Amino acid sequence: MRTTVGIIGAGPAGLLLARQLHLAGIDCVVLESRDRAHIEARQRAGMLEQGTVDALRAVGAGARLDAEGLEHHGIELRFDGTSHRVDFPALTGRTVTVYAQTEIVKDLVALHLADGPPLLFGAEALAVAGAESGKPAIRYRHQGREATLECDWAVGCDGFHGVARAAVPAAQRTTYERGYPFSWLGILADVAPSSPELVYARGAGGFALLSMRSPTVSRLYLQVPNGTDPADWPDERIWDELDARLSEGAGPGWTLNRGPVTAKTVTPMRSFVGEPLRHGRLLLAGDAAHIVPPTGAKGLNLAVSDVRLLGRAFEALHRTGSTALLDAYPRAALHRVWQATRFSYDMTTMLHVPPGQSDFDRRMELTRLHRIAASRDAAAEFAAQYTGLPLP
Ligand code: APR
Ligand code: PHB
Repeated sequence: MRTTVGIIGAGPAGLLLARQLHLAGIDCVVLESRDRAHIEARQRAGMLEQGTVDALRAVGAGARLDAEGLEHHGIELRFDGTSHRVDFPALTGRTVTVYAQTEIVKDLVALHLADGPPLLFGAEALAVAGAESGKPAIRYRHQGREATLECDWAVGCDGFHGVARAAVPAAQRTTYERGYPFSWLGILADVAPSSPELVYARGAGGFALLSMRSPTVSRLYLQVPNGTDPADWPDERIWDELDARLSEGAGPGWTLNRGPVTAKTVTPMRSFVGEPLRHGRLLLAGDAAHIVPPTGAKGLNLAVSDVRLLGRAFEALHRTGSTALLDAYPRAALHRVWQATRFSYDMTTMLHVPPGQSDFDRRMELTRLHRIAASRDAAAEFAAQYTGLPLP
């Protein structure tokens, strides 16, 4: 098989890029190792920056997002027995939208299967060869057979565990990485959210987050030790701990709504950036190139901003023959990636309680939070990052 752009991975990055290319009249093929049901059910953060919403609308994936997405004007920070609301429109003129990644993937897959270029499920990329020769070839296995996708350009949108990153020779790769001494226990519950906006709480016993998927489905998270087995957390224990952490600093009369838990998972956290984002005619985007801890929900937004840059760059190449924007992609993408990496790291370290934390470090975290509550400038910087920096 031959195409112009070979895309590995049908997560949000690969699917959105394919849609952008298709609308620009550029041939592409998407290879996805899993099946459709699997990629449409994967639970991930669902907080969209305005630029992400705009990008989805621009490819025709805005109808359900506009009907069902929940526009949010702020978030609440609870810490040290107090509560502070960060007002996004007042500080930045922008808002954010709650719409689950599962729904974005469903919307993009439906568009793609209706009129899009080939999207092969159960097609596992094994390796990318020839990126530096100018004729990349993606070797993959589909329906028990090995085959090759020859392309002008290969794009690795295959997530953190994909194969594309490995095509950059080890001697030319630099990896920046940091782990965290805690994980998130996340639940989905069939109950109305207890607050109209997201609540990020730094309780004395650790972090808790109240989020939502819809007016009738809550998404909640608790900081737990690394290696935690979800089986050790019966529903009652989870609700009690959420209640304890979220109630600190809540105003009088606030209560946590409890309901049936429909999903329960533990996710470790890491910050990771792999450079370069380009090797010859192979480009990397989204989780294949970088991972952030989920605090602040930057992962999906970064994946989308990467492919917005790539979409523009391929369109320019197609129209004018110039690779100038593709040449500029690594630098432009990495600028945003590093800003979001710093923001996610800051938000994570400011809101969690690592095991054995010293009194001094605890006061430093609280002091950072108090600064956001006390200073419009500090709140505006926080809000600018949370709602998303503009694309270059
Ligand atoms: N061959 C084909 N497909 C592959 C391969 C492979 N060898 N390896 C992985 N994949 C597929 C995965 O099955 C997955 O569907 O690549 C896709 C990668 O999708 P994501 O992991 O969702 O990554 P991305 O599209 O970059 O989106 C980033 O994921 O981690 C979250 O918060 C993050 O929401 C953000 C999003
Ligand atoms: C989520 O709803 O899953 C979510 C929201 C905000 C975050 C992280 C996760 O910061």
